[in-house]
Amino acid sequence: MNIDLLRPDESRILADFAALSAYTADSHPGWTRQVLSEPYLDSRAWIRRTMTDAGLDVRTDAAGNIIGTLAGTRGGTALATGSHTDTVMGGGRFDGVIGVLGAIETVRRLGETNTRLEHDLHVIDFLGEEPNDYGVSCVGSRSIVGAMQPAFFDNLNGVGDSLGHALEKAGLSPSRMLDNQWVRGQLSGFVELHIEQGPVLERTGTQIGVVTSIAGIERVIATFLGRADHAGTASMQDRRDALAAAAEAILAVEQIGCTGIDSVATVGTLEVEPGAMNVVPSLVRMWTEMRSPSAEWLGTARLQVLDQITALAERRGIRVDLQWLSDQDPVPTAVAVQDVIATAADTLGYGWRALPSGAGHDAAHMAVLAPTGMIFVPSVDGRSHCPEEWTDITDIAAGVHALATTLLSLDRTTA
Ligand code: GLV
Ligand code: MN
Ligand code: MN
Repeated sequence: MNIDLLRPDESRILADFAALSAYTADSHPGWTRQVLSEPYLDSRAWIRRTMTDAGLDVRTDAAGNIIGTLAGTRGGTALATGSHTDTVMGGGRFDGVIGVLGAIETVRRLGETNTRLEHDLHVIDFLGEEPNDYGVSCVGSRSIVGAMQPAFFDNLNGVGDSLGHALEKAGLSPSRMLDNQWVRGQLSGFVELHIEQGPVLERTGTQIGVVTSIAGIERVIATFLGRADHAGTASMQDRRDALAAAAEAILAVEQIGCTGIDSVATVGTLEVEPGAMNVVPSLVRMWTEMRSPSAEWLGTARLQVLDQITALAERRGIRVDLQWLSDQDPVPTAVAVQDVIATAADTLGYGWRALPSGAGHDAAHMAVLAPTGMIFVPSVDGRSHCPEEWTDITDIAAGVHALATTLLSLDRTTA
């Protein structure tokens, strides 16, 4: 077939972005649609409706994933695509969203051009890809691949509520989420379209990124337990300041992050108690993560964080507890799928380059089920997880076009 026929309708994509971005909390500048929040739960009805209107047969699974299926001509194994529509607090409109809206537009174009796939195609809006207040990311995709661990449901947020309880309040059953695993072999390929969230494509004037690997992530909450004292009368020698210890730890984490290729380490947030200007801080919870394409670097960094934080806390007479949260190994994408994406870009006349992903993605989990690939499109100034996040519509359309062509090619060439 003439693949140019699958070119997406830009005005329709823009209208979808506008409609979905209206579901936001106004608590922060930018867009805030965090998993299980009211705007997020409201937006899911819009997603289901939009999938149905596009011609998909829609269901919501035990993990709250919205799955729209386009029946193929021969049944058997399926292909899948999709991403997420939750955002970070004060985030942008494109992270994850492009992969869901782009997949829906692809389904519309397949219908309008009477292009029947042989495989069933699942379009998935995965529940809660961003790390939630309980320190667990990719809740929906973990559930699909059987990587949700019972212990995750006991993780607490800053006010002592558990993830399990929060999911139950949203009508989801943790035990059913643990029993939601797809059978291996039922999927013959997964492709996720996403914004790059970094500067490489824009700087090099490249329209399409062919992702080679997805960074591994280690997450930990370090809790420093010092002693509350009067900030005017406790001498500098006598105090056990949990926040001063955390400050030292933040710089240690930053230094560790500087030691690897394409590796990073971040302290993203602190909770400080009692939280008054005239009281020496007695407790700090420090949320920390390390990322790398190298499993070896991550293993070493984890030990360094443990050693250095333990040592500095001891020196200061402070107790420290480390709670390791969900981790994720680095995941290479399938070379065969990379090749299909690159060939699609060549055929469509879009420049492409291979690059690793420093961000985490649902694709990293789906990769255990089927050969998996990712398509990146440029992010203006490399910005993401902030209100300034932006991708031009021509680049979005190129990514959607590459997605449609990749899926069609996989359909025709995959068992
Ligand atoms: C998801 O956006 C992540 O990489 O944290
Ligand atoms: Mn994302
Ligand atoms: Mn994100």
